[in-house]
Amino acid sequence: MSTRTMRAIRLHEHGGPDVLRQDEIPVPRLGPGEVLVRVHAVGVNPPDWYLRDGLSNIPPETRPTFDLPVTPGTDVSGVVEAVAADVEGFAVGDQVFGLLRFPSFDGRAYAEYVAAPASDLAHKPAGVDHVHAAGAPMALLTAWQFLIELGHDHPSPFQAERHRPVPLDAGTTVLVNGAAGGVGHLALQLAKWRGAHVIAVASGAHESFLRELGADEFIDYTKSRPEERVHDVDLVLDTVGGRESSRFLRTLKRGGVLFPVFFGAYDDEETARLGVTVSGTQVRSSGAQLAEVGRLLDAGTVRVAIDSTFPLADARAAHERAAEGHLQGKIVLTVA
Ligand SMILES: NC(=O)c1ccc[n+]([C@@H]2O[C@H](COP(=O)([O-])OP(=O)(O)OC[C@H]3O[C@@H](n4cnc5c(N)ncnc54)[C@H](OP(=O)(O)O)[C@@H]3O)[C@@H](O)[C@H]2O)c1
Repeated sequence: MSTRTMRAIRLHEHGGPDVLRQDEIPVPRLGPGEVLVRVHAVGVNPPDWYLRDGLSNIPPETRPTFDLPVTPGTDVSGVVEAVAADVEGFAVGDQVFGLLRFPSFDGRAYAEYVAAPASDLAHKPAGVDHVHAAGAPMALLTAWQFLIELGHDHPSPFQAERHRPVPLDAGTTVLVNGAAGGVGHLALQLAKWRGAHVIAVASGAHESFLRELGADEFIDYTKSRPEERVHDVDLVLDTVGGRESSRFLRTLKRGGVLFPVFFGAYDDEETARLGVTVSGTQVRSSGAQLAEVGRLLDAGTVRVAIDSTFPLADARAAHERAAEGHLQGKIVLTVA
């Protein structure tokens, strides 16, 4: 009996981009509730290099553990090759996309085939090609779950309270920090879709890109400090975080909220004094939500920008591009 094999990129050790190795391994077998997807394109996301590095930025008590070798990657777009007997709603030949098994860091997407939980998949919007569809799942679900609808009751590992999006409309001013990146450029478009006035913060090279996506104002953070230019904002979505993150609290009006997509440092006394709230969450896989946002992709209301593409075999070069920073949209690996 022959076992079909496929190319996959795997980590045999943790480290820099050079630990991403191409191997020939068996095509995965389907478990209950799963769909075998022939992968056409894979979106590259920060958790891919966190896993490559050994998840050293996750506190040891909540850090998932992995037996090596492991195949990284969570975001796929491809074509259904087989369907487990208990799966409904997908058939051989369907074009699908999805964020797989997140936040378990076990998506196994850097491969020619992936066994995907059917509940993590949605039908790919017909008007969007595999490269753009593969760029969407994690970044777009993050923007959606932060800004529009959380969509689940799982407790957040980052805070006791349930994260609650705030209503966005023509009377709302939203500042997006890190606006040109994967999450930022999609969050900007969702806020515009809801009618908000959007201030985009990014380095100067991204200005025309972000204005074309609908930014009403642009601040080049290399030339001026947003907290000295902007006041009375209703909502800050900060995809950058870090030690300086609390300066954005001063851009908010009383009653305003700051959503840290990446960890920041906020002082409870300062937020209480300013009368503002900080709330975050961790993105989770959801085929149902992807089906919903897929309609916005299909209509062209939201579009995925592609920073660069690399063949699967060049995953190392894709991670080197990511390490250079200043991404404009998504990095995508092409497979079939
Ligand atoms: N909470 C969650 O569940 C969740 C989900 C997804 C992502 N994340 C986290 O969110 C972060 C962003 O993810 P991503 O996929 O959007 O990353 P990304 O595509 O790499 O984008 C990062 C963007 O930030 C910009 N940037 C860097 N330094 C900046 C600064 N000081 N001020 C303003 N912009 C700056 C970069 O371009 P320029 O510097 O050229 O402007 C780049 O466009 C990552 O840390 C990721 O781990 C969290």
